[in-house]
Amino acid sequence: MGITSKPVVFAVLAAVVILIGTTVTVFIPLFMPSTQPVSASIKPYTAVEQEGRDIYMREGCNNCHTQTVRPLRTEVLRYGEYSKPEEFAYDRPFLWGSRRTGPDLNRVGEKYPDSWHYKHLDSPQSMFEKSNMPPYGWLAKNRLDTQYSLKKATTLGYGYSESDVHQQITQYRATVTDENYPSKESRNNVTPPELRKELTEMDALIAYLQKLGRDVKNMEAKK
Ligand code: HEC
Repeated sequence: MGITSKPVVFAVLAAVVILIGTTVTVFIPLFMPSTQPVSASIKPYTAVEQEGRDIYMREGCNNCHTQTVRPLRTEVLRYGEYSKPEEFAYDRPFLWGSRRTGPDLNRVGEKYPDSWHYKHLDSPQSMFEKSNMPPYGWLAKNRLDTQYSLKKATTLGYGYSESDVHQQITQYRATVTDENYPSKESRNNVTPPELRKELTEMDALIAYLQKLGRDVKNMEAKK
């Protein structure tokens, strides 16, 4: 008599086999530190870029913009190198998106100077008459709230100390408020005088946009 004629024994054995399979394929990888190698060129967001990312989510930019370039010829020609899994190692949550009312932004970093973004965010229609992207000029009128920056970086496991976060914020403020900042004129055009020496939400959002795809571009350049 084979095992097939003993339904109870058969069910128990089948359950055991399925359990082993589940443990091996689900639970073991879950507790492994990483199943996907991440290149050293892929850096976590700085505190300011992270704040910019939160503003991006708050404003729902991801409802109109995807952040994945698919490995298709048409996409690679339009946007650049297709997206690699390791690029999203520090994205929690990921912002791949599913709608492209506007173009994909995964390779937008360093495509334009900061000045372009100040002008575009302030008024997309001044640059593309038929753009249906809403204007976000008021982001330059909001001082950037950095009180939770350290907490965010800690929770997300970026490994920054309090002084790292403080330094990243101070350094970015120094960059955008510098007399010789190349995008000074466009920044001043949208930022009210009392905030020109401070970091605004628009500054942080632009820092984030400039980070998108930057690490991969550097990685490709090194090859
Ligand atoms: C209603 C849909 C919509 C929303 C919401 C939206 N955009 Fe756009 N965006 C567009 C469209 C359409 C374009 C193309 C025309 C243009 O450049 O204005 C665009 C273009 C862009 C570009 C230029 C991309 C390139 O490669 O030329 C950037 C950068 C951008 N958007 C950033 C943002 C950010 C940041 C937000 C959130 C604060 C946002 N967008 C919200 C529709 C949207």
